[in-house]
Amino acid sequence: MKILVLNGPNINMLGIREPQHYGNETYEDLKNLILENANGCEIEFYQSNHEGDLVDAIQKSYFEKVDGIIFNPAAYTHTSIALLDALKSTKIPCVEVHISKVEERDSFRQISYVREACLKTITGKGLNGYVEALEFLKEYLK
Ligand code: DQA
Repeated sequence: MKILVLNGPNINMLGIREPQHYGNETYEDLKNLILENANGCEIEFYQSNHEGDLVDAIQKSYFEKVDGIIFNPAAYTHTSIALLDALKSTKIPCVEVHISKVEERDSFRQISYVREACLKTITGKGLNGYVEALEFLKEYLK
């Protein structure tokens, strides 16, 4: 089973950016945590600060037969129809993850364009949200 862990803008700044929302762990810590919980799944990681790169990564997943995507589109969650369309085009099972509890934050964070194309949304569980998403996808895909 091949899973892509896809992260949007500023997720590479984990550990530095707003620890009150995102904690003290780094992007490297996030990758290690997911790998520790991979249990035989093949995991690919990709992070970009650019919307089009994220669209390209989703399209590439289709051609490389990725089975599932764990996706934190970060700020593009709230703005990007292009990412929604990319997910809809490929129909790859996707779980939306947010480290912080977005529903308790700013009003502009209450919209998620990608949600419509996701099986499930996990928010406010810190980095463990990604592990929960992985467990969900493993169960869903087996
Ligand atoms: C985020 C929440 C977004 O609103 C924000 O723009 C991010 C990270 C989260 O993981 O909680 O960059 O997706």
